[in-house]
Amino acid sequence: MKERKTILVVDDEASMRTNVVELLSREGYSVYEAVDGAEALKAVKSHPLNLVLLDINLPKIDGITALKEIKKDFADLPVIVFTAYGTSERAIEAMKAGAYDYLDKPFELDEFLLVVRRALTFGDLLGEVKQLRSTVSINTQLSATSQLVGISQKSQEIFKLIGRAAPSEATVLIQGESGTGKELIADAIQRHSLRKEKPFIKVDCGGLTETLLESELFGHEKGAFTGAVSQRKGRFELADGGTILLDEVNNMTPALQMKLLRVLQQKTFERVGGKDTHTVDVRIIAATNRNLEDEMKAGRFRQDLFYRLNVIHIVIPPLRDRPEDIPVLVDHYLKRIKPTQKIVVPEESLKKLMTYSWPGNVRELENVIQRALVMTQGSLITIDHLPFSSPPALGNNSGNTLLQEGFNLKSYLTTTEKNLIVEALEKTNWNRTLTAKLLNINRRLLFSKMLYYNLKQKK
Ligand SMILES: Nc1ncnc2c1ncn2[C@@H]1O[C@H](COP(=O)(O)OP(=O)(O)OP(=O)(O)O)[C@@H](O)[C@H]1O
Ligand SMILES: [Mg+2]
Repeated sequence: MKERKTILVVDDEASMRTNVVELLSREGYSVYEAVDGAEALKAVKSHPLNLVLLDINLPKIDGITALKEIKKDFADLPVIVFTAYGTSERAIEAMKAGAYDYLDKPFELDEFLLVVRRALTFGDLLGEVKQLRSTVSINTQLSATSQLVGISQKSQEIFKLIGRAAPSEATVLIQGESGTGKELIADAIQRHSLRKEKPFIKVDCGGLTETLLESELFGHEKGAFTGAVSQRKGRFELADGGTILLDEVNNMTPALQMKLLRVLQQKTFERVGGKDTHTVDVRIIAATNRNLEDEMKAGRFRQDLFYRLNVIHIVIPPLRDRPEDIPVLVDHYLKRIKPTQKIVVPEESLKKLMTYSWPGNVRELENVIQRALVMTQGSLITIDHLPFSSPPALGNNSGNTLLQEGFNLKSYLTTTEKNLIVEALEKTNWNRTLTAKLLNINRRLLFSKMLYYNLKQKK
């Protein structure tokens, strides 16, 4: 017969504990309970366990501290952490402190059991293999601007990956559309890495000519090129011992790609116009808004360099592919911009925000919220405060979602009309003849509507 697995459930909330214990018992596991961190540590020492389920917010000894204590003595014991918030820091901390996985409360039953089973299998597989325990001290004080927010499965996977990747020395390649948070993620990796006290240098590889970028990266000797009036250290030298972020790495010329490859392989380079070979120890994080693999296939990016950079690959999906993140991001920005004021975003506005395509991703969302807060004088963000209110596609009216309390046909139609005119004007770069054509109305009517809605091109 299969041996019964033993699980410890740690949660100070009695109802939660009872539910989980019942569920697990029904699944045939034998279960112990603890109500706080101190009890948990005692239980771990007095019972042979296969798995710990640990709430992160605990009285006496908090979850992260308890987790670290557990990992000190029982490195191979898988621990799944319950986090109550859709924010990243605690999840990353937990992963870094050696958690096997984490679950957001409230969780789905199926997902919960799946993760439990996976963790138990993992514990089996681990067998004799000793896990390195994390000795890194953790930075808990963090400003709101560097906080990564997201509750979607996709974001959660990324947070986990950050937690696993950060304390390693591996090169990381971050790929995502503009405004998806590449830099924020690079910051999080650095902040959670073993090199966090060391220099963190960012270089934008996009805007410079080849020579200037080369000099920026590797430095130059006096007189190396016109304008090189004195010797200068490059960013790699300045980052020695620490981390460098190569932003828009896809913009590097072939010659520079070659030089970068050499740094990755041999840790050596020469300054522009210099003969001495310098050696550095720098961890590289690269970011790109292009699909670098496609760039490689198209012959614009060196294959060997691609594989060197792509050790850990973080692909951030565009915001439109993870609309579940939008409400928490909105909330995050409201609190950040107006920390003392309670601002309400009604269902209708939230729906607009969640169905918009966000070409500028999170950065655009941040701007839209900022703008809405300027527009609204009160504490309500209505759709009129949002810049992109267009009606849902015609003929696609499955559930009469619009016809709810507060709906007003006239204001709906005028808003729709105004928005379509603005859209057409922007599309045609405010050319009125083209706009009228696009809308299939005559110019006179367009003029009078523009006057009526007070539409003027921003300078
Ligand atoms: N998950 C997130 N949680 C909170 N804020 C975020 C998140 N993702 C992005 N942001 C915010 O969106 C803005 C854009 O992020 P960031 O500069 O990191 O994007 P990027 O991918 O580097 O963009 P670009 O390609 O244009 O350089 C920043 O203000 C950042 O704080
Ligand atoms: Mg960026």
